[in-house]
Amino acid sequence: MDTFIVFGNPIKHSQSPRIHELFAAETGIHHSYGRMLVPLDKFELALRQFFDMGGLGANITLPFKEFTFSLCDQLTERASLAGAVNTVKKQPDGTLLGDNTDGIGLVSDLQRLNLLHQDSRVLLVGAGGAARGVILPLAAYCCKVVLTNRTFLRAQELIRFYHHLDNISALPLDCLYSQEYNLIINATSAGILGDVPVLPASLITPTVCCYDMFYQKGDTPFIAWCRQQGVRRCADGLGMLVGQAAYAFLLWHGVFPSILPVLETLRAEQST
Ligand code: ATR
Repeated sequence: MDTFIVFGNPIKHSQSPRIHELFAAETGIHHSYGRMLVPLDKFELALRQFFDMGGLGANITLPFKEFTFSLCDQLTERASLAGAVNTVKKQPDGTLLGDNTDGIGLVSDLQRLNLLHQDSRVLLVGAGGAARGVILPLAAYCCKVVLTNRTFLRAQELIRFYHHLDNISALPLDCLYSQEYNLIINATSAGILGDVPVLPASLITPTVCCYDMFYQKGDTPFIAWCRQQGVRRCADGLGMLVGQAAYAFLLWHGVFPSILPVLETLRAEQST
């Protein structure tokens, strides 16, 4: 039996088992890491069975992150603030600790790429679980985060949690025409269906950088759109994926694996 696992639906294309295989090889810490496709109504049962049968750690991906939040016995501060869990650790007393490493995975990748600075103005597009998981870590790092979403009401609802922070706000799409940002982050799920969130082309200034939290082999639809608009610096979410996995590995094993060689291996494998 695998002692570590990723749960999701869909899960077939998850890179997490490969990433953790590479971390295990690099650190010399053996851990068997599998994947499980879970029907939407069977997730709680599958999670509990996994840990009852000796599982030690799980990653959780779409669409179960918010539900896992309610199933954990304890939460790290960042999971509690995100309202979602992407990493679960079984503790020595048998209780489940929920963590969220998405935000730190994103911020560390943006830093690696030199796309995020303390004076950056960031436009975060999307108001679902993906945006919620990263908005606070972003706001903790840069000067201003503006949230926008196709359904503006959801953006307003999301930032209501953060009314005490004066560097997080929300703007509807049709108020973005006169705005300028240093970085635009796509946190929508549009790419899964090959779509692009509709944004005013005026946002694409000569200096703007774009980051897609989604990734796929080749350019994502959002990155392809950005390049068509003339954006010079774009990146997809593969680095974030490896980053969040590295912080999960740290939680489970107390060792932080090297991100860059794993990212390079994945990129090389994707291009073949
Ligand atoms: P996740 O947990 O991945 O964030 P979600 O909670 O279903 O998933 O949220 C999906 C997000 O992607 C939402 O912000 C959604 O916009 P709406 O709130 O208007 O539905 C956004 N999204 C999905 N498809 C989109 C599209 N084609 N264009 C723009 N936004 C899209």
